[in-house]
Amino acid sequence: MTNSPDWSAHYRASDTPWDLGGPHPELSSRLQDGRLAPPAPGARALVPGAGAGHDAIALARRGWKVTAIDWVPELAALVGPLLERDGGRYVTGDAIEFDWSGTAEADGFDLVWDHTFFCAIPPDHRAPWGQRASTLVRPGGRYASLVFPVGKPAEEGGPPFGMDEAALAGALGSLFRVEEHAPVARAVARRQWREHWLEAVRVPLAVS
Ligand SMILES: C[S@@+](CC[C@H](N)C(=O)[O-])C[C@H]1O[C@@H](n2cnc3c(N)ncnc32)[C@H](O)[C@@H]1O
Repeated sequence: MTNSPDWSAHYRASDTPWDLGGPHPELSSRLQDGRLAPPAPGARALVPGAGAGHDAIALARRGWKVTAIDWVPELAALVGPLLERDGGRYVTGDAIEFDWSGTAEADGFDLVWDHTFFCAIPPDHRAPWGQRASTLVRPGGRYASLVFPVGKPAEEGGPPFGMDEAALAGALGSLFRVEEHAPVARAVARRQWREHWLEAVRVPLAVS
């Protein structure tokens, strides 16, 4: 998949308006009260488009073994060591096409946490990402997303490209069952567009 825009240039210039400087407050709240607790010790989480890693590190501090992937190599030195302390790591690469075979993560993840990743990729990459997600999340595992920017008209372009729960659920497809979708209780005040939460469970493949 093409790297467009030049995300590295944004980080080099500290032009990162999406960066909250800490984990998203809704994620923090759900980690704190146990709603997003790891299902078992050693449960694995993947954070695609992890950026400066605030969410990834928050997940790791709450017991998830976190793999963050982003195609900005400069972020590796910043985020990698903080994840390695808890058994995770930072991977430089394309979240949609990265080949996990032969890695510690080859058996998949119990959680994919998506915060402004789906809205960052070009809309024609959404279906390939959704298909990929269904192979990355183990049956019984979850795809949790901070759905943003809800209400942004498509003609305004992006990133961030406008999205909503239907767009994400459509890309994830029938191998995911949406269990929750609602406006977040703890939205980021300075964000111009609405924020929702979506959580979907990866269902097992039907055996005929
Ligand atoms: C809007 S930023 C969000 C970063 C982080 N999730 C946050 O909330 O601060 C989008 C991130 O996704 C990364 N990205 C976009 N497309 C990607 C892809 N196909 N594979 C890996 N990373 C990607 C960019 O490099 C950037 O760091």
